[in-house]
Amino acid sequence: MKLEALPVIKGDFNLQNYEETYNTFDWQETEKNFTWSETGKVNMAYEAIDRHAESDRKDKIALYYKDPERNEKYTFKDMKDYTNKAANVLKTYGNVSKGDRVFVFMPRSPELYFAVLGAIKTGAIVGPLFEAFMEGAVRDRLQDSEAKVLVTTPELLKRVPVDELPALKTVFLVGEGIKEDEKYINFLEKLNQASDQFEIEWVDRTDGLILHYTSGSTGKPKGVLHVHNAMIQHYQTAKWVLDLQEEDIYWCTADPGWITGTSYGIFGPWLTGTTNVIVGGRFKPDNWYETIQDFGITVWYSAPTAFRMLMGAGDEIVKKFDLSSLRHILSVGEPLNPEVVRWGMKVFNLRIHDTWWMTETGAQLICNYPCLEIKPGSMGKPIPGVEAAIVDNQGNVLPPNRMGNLAIKKGWPAMMHSIWNNPEKYESYFMPGDWYVSGDSAYMDEEGYFWFQGRVDDVIMTSGERVGPFEVESKLIEHPAIAEAGVIGKPDPVRGEIIKAFVALREGIEQTDELVEEIRQFVKTGLSAHAAPREIEFRDKLPKTRSGKIMRRVLKAWELDLPTGDLSTMED
Ligand code: PRX
Repeated sequence: MKLEALPVIKGDFNLQNYEETYNTFDWQETEKNFTWSETGKVNMAYEAIDRHAESDRKDKIALYYKDPERNEKYTFKDMKDYTNKAANVLKTYGNVSKGDRVFVFMPRSPELYFAVLGAIKTGAIVGPLFEAFMEGAVRDRLQDSEAKVLVTTPELLKRVPVDELPALKTVFLVGEGIKEDEKYINFLEKLNQASDQFEIEWVDRTDGLILHYTSGSTGKPKGVLHVHNAMIQHYQTAKWVLDLQEEDIYWCTADPGWITGTSYGIFGPWLTGTTNVIVGGRFKPDNWYETIQDFGITVWYSAPTAFRMLMGAGDEIVKKFDLSSLRHILSVGEPLNPEVVRWGMKVFNLRIHDTWWMTETGAQLICNYPCLEIKPGSMGKPIPGVEAAIVDNQGNVLPPNRMGNLAIKKGWPAMMHSIWNNPEKYESYFMPGDWYVSGDSAYMDEEGYFWFQGRVDDVIMTSGERVGPFEVESKLIEHPAIAEAGVIGKPDPVRGEIIKAFVALREGIEQTDELVEEIRQFVKTGLSAHAAPREIEFRDKLPKTRSGKIMRRVLKAWELDLPTGDLSTMED
């Protein structure tokens, strides 16, 4: 059922008139906020932290941190001191300098944020790894990037195949009872002893900042490199889209292992001098509502899967909490169903603002804004300074209401700089006419609202996390019982999609429930929990092209009872 459009909200928003701003805005206006407009050099960590620590905001809370064991707060001045200390530790004991890859693999904690920003102060490129990654996923990323330094915990170190990582020189351990030697350094101990004075490494705007690995439909995960220049768009979208203002208490639920957790869990809020709430631990509906109540969250950025889980927990528990501080809610990562928008109106009496972007785009591109009507189910309109269109496979712009490739005119400030060690892959994102092609299909209506239709490729979005089927298939065929494997996304009412694997076993292997469970565990422990197939179906043979590629489209058609389409390339 189609929902009525939700009217604009009236208020003192940072973006007051979308049309007018869209027609007149120039990114140079935003650039003037940062040091390079005066000195030619810049550093993200300076702009996000030190600048405020040296201003009237120095005693303002920058970070509230909470998990089941800790409940702490840090002012901008504290953050400056701790990130300086972290920078000193990394430089002194890890010999970190500009351009080195420093990976951070640990659960959320204040130290994770000190390490990330400290590394940026040294001019290093940070590689954040999601804490649920298992050995295979960790190895691929550290090897490809030739990481020199890793910050991790003794617990997670078990998943780091250090012997297979010749480039890795120093491992900082965050935890207790650490035995140090030349390679392994006690991070917390050194942090306590370090000076809180640090000479920031000033860099060019096109120098590397952060490396996020992400999955496509083929091959291993790719390292998407972002540079300091992205701050222009992080800052401006934190203003226009998150609508962050001086008094706001902001909460982004994403982990910094994913780009939402860095662009909008670190950079956006702190570039604008906003109080940022970070919560560790696992998802439980009660804790989430309690977080909003206890911190007085005003702006909340989350994802459709989380909203659907809250919706599933029922409206009764909402009533136990005082959520009246909330004024602005946003969503990213997967299609935001109109039902969820309707639920949001009912329980929060607020509109949920969908935002569209990708790891490669570095920052939000197509969004809903308080000052614009929301059409539930639509991702909204491009941010000022960005041109979006629907193009055909030759790069021709299509008229309204025609489905095609969602494309963005190359050159927005936060656009990826490159794909690590893979210029061909980088080039493959672009089409004639300087269009960046997203891999999403969509259409634009007569009023310029964009509507998501699906992925063009086989990439799976499960609980808002992007999983490449190839990575899962590769892991599956490492299992001694498996001859062939094909992996698809199967629609799911809560998670968007779940991972389903079709598996052909080796000769003589019996199909048992124990084997299903064993295979699932094999992927879980070898790759990561979110990549493990929820469903496994045995088949004698899988559909393949004559060149031996698994035809996922046929698997999907089987699963969904759809016509299989053209089978002329299929082997007999
Ligand atoms: O398919 C789109 C989906 O997520 C993909 C990008 O995934 P990732 O790089 O992990 O980044 C996610 C968070 C920035 C897109 O190609 N996606 C993202 N936002 C939306 C979305 N699908 C529908 N609606 C959205 N708002």
